[in-house]
This record gives sequence, structure tokens and C-alpha cells, in this order.
Amino acid sequence: MISGNIKPVTAKTFQKMKSNGEKITMLTAYDFSTAKYIDECEIDSILVGDSLGMTILGYDTTINVTVEDMLTFTKAVSSGVKRAMVIADMPFLSYQVSKEQTVINAGKLIRAGAKAVKLEGANDFILDEVKHLTQNGINVMGHLGFTPQYINTIGGYFIQGKSYENTLKLLEAAKKLEDSGVFSIVLEMVPTESAKYISENLSIPAIGIGAGKYCDGQVLVIDDILGKYPGNVPKFVKQYADIKNIIKLAVTQYKTEVKNNEFPFDKNSFNLDDEERIKLEHYINKQH
Ligand code: KIV
Repeated sequence: MISGNIKPVTAKTFQKMKSNGEKITMLTAYDFSTAKYIDECEIDSILVGDSLGMTILGYDTTINVTVEDMLTFTKAVSSGVKRAMVIADMPFLSYQVSKEQTVINAGKLIRAGAKAVKLEGANDFILDEVKHLTQNGINVMGHLGFTPQYINTIGGYFIQGKSYENTLKLLEAAKKLEDSGVFSIVLEMVPTESAKYISENLSIPAIGIGAGKYCDGQVLVIDDILGKYPGNVPKFVKQYADIKNIIKLAVTQYKTEVKNNEFPFDKNSFNLDDEERIKLEHYINKQH
């Protein structure tokens, strides 16, 4: 648990952890209190993922998430965090349109409290944007493998880098991102052996999600590990709690107590002091 002098995790810490062979821990968060609890458990990094499109806003994909949405949740998360490195996703087409737009949108997320932004893919335009962002003082995290913002062109939730050739292509893309200045890369839904090879051949840390145990760190969606998300949960998730049923149990008990006129109990209520209560009773009696 955090105590005394808090040393915030930075891009340099990520690099040091990779050099020391220390695993980097990362979880998503979207609100103040969850971010605070995660931070108090000394998770190294909190991702304000555009997965909030599904977990918070109830969409089917991340495509409809806007910069304004990301700003709201990045501010909320940053307010709860003292140690972890807060990274905010750049949502669909908030980059890739023009370098100017990219830097303006990334700057908004940094001003909202993020210490880095994450963007998906590694085409030539994105590589140029990464250089431009880092030259302007903005830390960038890459994201390769399954990239949810490309769901319509990928055509489904498919594992990436499933062949020897595709593994090499993924490594080539990751190296280009590294050369352009990203401080770390998320590898999503990549076979264990491919992710191991890629991680070992990068100087920067690779953070896996559905990419096996050999990556330099791991990230998962908080709603998935807490058992809160009502939709399908992927095979690579381990559910560590059953919040969905805890919520349902508490809400059902509340409903029953209200219907039975049990809640609020005396200890949950405010009372007039005796003098004022007697005056009120006299007044009521006079009315009858
Ligand atoms: O949006 C998100 O939560 C992510 C993680 C799945 C890596 O990008």
C-alpha cells in the first residue's frame, strides 16, 4: 500500500522495470474511486481505455467514443491517482486525420491529467504522428496485434500474428513504433510464442493482453477482472471477483427493505430534538 513519499511511475520507470526483469502491472479504470483503489494497491499504470465505450457507455465497440468522453473519464481517474502512470487512449479518428489535430487532441488529454496517450496501429502516418507527439513532449504508447478501433476492417475479434510470417510482421511494426519514439507497446491477442519473441526483441516494454506470460507486463480491463461487465468476457481474462452479483444482492435487499417499510432504519434517520418535537405534536393536535 502507498505510504509516505510517493514516487510516481513514469516512462523511465517502465524502461527500468524492463531492464530489471520486473513485470509491469496495468489495469484500466474510468472513475475516481476505482482509480484510487487501484492506485492504493500499487498497480504501476492505469489506462483510461476507450473500452469505456463498452464498459461505461454500453456501446458494442470503441468506435463511437469521442475526445470529450475521454476527457471526462481521464479527469475523473487522474483525480484519484497519486502514483500510477495514467495513460489515456486516443479515440477513433482523434489521430490519423492530421498531425495538427493529433497534437491538439493529445494535448487535451495530457491537460486532463494523463501522463501519456495510447494509439493503435503503425502505418506510416501514425509513425510520423508518434514522432511529432514525442517531439512536443507527449509520451506515446503503441498498440498492436488486435486493435479494436480497426474492428470493421479486421472483421471480428481474431487472434493476430498466428503464423511465423505474421509474427515477423508484427515485430517489424513494433520496431518501427519503437524507432519513432513510443515508450511502450500493448500487444493484444497474440499467441504466447509470438509475443515472447516480440517482447524479447524490443528495447521498450511490451504489455500483453491475451498475449501470454512472457510479455514485460500485463494489462486487463477492470470490469472484466471484477466480474462486472454484463457481456462476453474473453478467454484471456481471469475473473478475480463477482461484483455483478454483489451489486444485485445489495440492490435486491435494498428494494425489499423499502417495499416492507423497513428502510430507512432509525440509525439512518434524523430526528427533531424533544422540545421541537413536542411543539410540532401540539400544533398537529390543535389542527384536529
Ligand atoms: O481500451 C482498452 O481498454 C485497451 C486495453 C484493452 C489494452 O486498449
